Amino acid sequence: MCGIVGYIGHREAYPIIIKGLKRLEYRGYDSAGVVLYDGADLKLAKTKGKVSDLEARVAQEISTNGNIGMGHTRWATHGVPNDVNSHPHLSNSGNLVVVHNGIIENYEPLKKELINRGYTFKSDTDTEVLINLIEEVQKKENLKLGKAVQVALNQVVGAYAIVVFDKNKPDELVAARLGSPLAIGIGEDEYFIASDASPFIEYTSNAIYLEDEEMAIIRLNKSLKVRKIKDDSLVDPYIQELQMNLEQIEKGGYEHFMLKEIYEQPNVIKDTYRGRLLANKGIIQMSGVEDNLEKFLNAKRILIVACGTSWHAGLVAEYIIEEFSRIPVEVEYASEFRYRNPIINSDDIVIAISQSGETADTLAAIKLAKENGAFVFGVCNVVGSSISRETHAGAYTHAGPEIGVASTKAFTTQITILTLLALRLAKAKGSMNHADYQRYLLELEMIPEKVQEALLTNEISKQIAAIYKDASNCLYLGRGYNFPVALEGALKLKEISYIHAEGYPAAEMKHGPIALIDEQMPVIVIAPNKGHYDKVVSNIQEIKSRSGKIIAVVTKGDTQVKELADHVIEIPETSEALTPLLTTIPLQLLSYHIAVLRGCNVDQPRNLAKSVTVE
Ligand code: F6R
Repeated sequence: MCGIVGYIGHREAYPIIIKGLKRLEYRGYDSAGVVLYDGADLKLAKTKGKVSDLEARVAQEISTNGNIGMGHTRWATHGVPNDVNSHPHLSNSGNLVVVHNGIIENYEPLKKELINRGYTFKSDTDTEVLINLIEEVQKKENLKLGKAVQVALNQVVGAYAIVVFDKNKPDELVAARLGSPLAIGIGEDEYFIASDASPFIEYTSNAIYLEDEEMAIIRLNKSLKVRKIKDDSLVDPYIQELQMNLEQIEKGGYEHFMLKEIYEQPNVIKDTYRGRLLANKGIIQMSGVEDNLEKFLNAKRILIVACGTSWHAGLVAEYIIEEFSRIPVEVEYASEFRYRNPIINSDDIVIAISQSGETADTLAAIKLAKENGAFVFGVCNVVGSSISRETHAGAYTHAGPEIGVASTKAFTTQITILTLLALRLAKAKGSMNHADYQRYLLELEMIPEKVQEALLTNEISKQIAAIYKDASNCLYLGRGYNFPVALEGALKLKEISYIHAEGYPAAEMKHGPIALIDEQMPVIVIAPNKGHYDKVVSNIQEIKSRSGKIIAVVTKGDTQVKELADHVIEIPETSEALTPLLTTIPLQLLSYHIAVLRGCNVDQPRNLAKSVTVE
């Protein structure tokens, strides 16, 4: 939530910051701001709205020269989105300025104390409290900026990634993190600071990811120093080589990132299993699993923690792991798990699934599991993210940057990794006969090709979208492996088109939701020719006899459902456990086209942000 960009060096800062903010806009897009130092003074512009609104405001209000600056794109926590609450925030003297991602939980008592000392506040934000606290510490104790930031942060409870600038010390930026990500790009006599590396990948491939409770004092023409906020000890920072490239974070001819990411799925699923799946040899190798195989084999239970779409991938994994590896699996919302005093045993394995690797609730669930002695395995997409560092071992999904706020390729690659894991454990445990194991390996290898074929449903999905775009409600039904796909389909629709949608196990329909069905209600039924096909056909009949409109996702060649449904979308045939990788595709496309036809902002739906670093 919230994106930060900072620059200090020899280039004009403004173009770097504005381009960087556009790349980070997925993190929050209800307001934006920029501050530049032109060698004499600070130039500040901020506004409610998007980065494009900020550009317009900058053009009217400030000159854009200066080699130092920082910018912010906001997802509001404290204070409604408006011009005043937008970042950057100045201190009362006007000398210090900050951009902040996170929440200062104890801002109220701090604010009261500062008011007693004569400070005034323009905004409703916790961030303005923080910058004035830094100013107060700096003045009272006559400290250098870095030290003042450190002393102030030690009084703060909450989460933050911040960048601070003092116009009286114009060769320096101070950055710090606790709970919100911050990367520092290291160029030739220049530094970039950002919430992720995307704003600076064309300038440098060397970056440091600050750890929690670390701060960096970045001085031009001098070395960068990283210190522990708590005890001031110096840290030897690890400089990583970035794996991202520019092409990955651009739309590449697609109208939206979401559509591009839907179409990337054949390739990224292949990237996910590349080097791990040697189907012809009957081998699955995943280093994080191989190194800890004993732990997996001795596990009495697997607990999966995640949020949103990642939680849906966890539900699919529950079916697959229990079926293949015969290890009991429980799947929990990370936000519930962390607050409900769960029973965690030292012989439990906790699998944390997260695209961003930064979700606050999932991170907290991991810490809780570790405190209770569990082994924690991460399934993350973002390399070097907080969750990937907090877990004992893990596997990256290698889906590449997912920029559309609605998760698509992250979901299918998460399922791919978890299927590999289930098969690997099945082989080690002998819980699956060899012929089935081998068949699944070969089948998994063919999934990218079949996803490619499933993408041919784009046209029919678009036509169906045109018919139902004005619906106010939608029901998604599936059974077995496709029950979580129904949940995911409903989530996709509601988050980008704002149509109310619910996902249900098809058999549950008669325990309540059937009351909703009438001729106005589109019901999307996932009905591949595997598993509980006959039962799903009966459910379809129940919908039909109540005049519901049936949109069915079926296996190519299906005849039975075709006779009953109003519309059918055909996907290729695959083994039952792998059907979610295919049935998901038309549901993503359907949501996408409905949202486009309704004129919604597909990549940046209202009230959402890509990376939920607040609880
Ligand atoms: C929905 C979506 C969210 C995320 C959720 C978890 O399309 O993107 O529901 O899945 O916020 O995020 P990660 O996977 O980054 O932990």
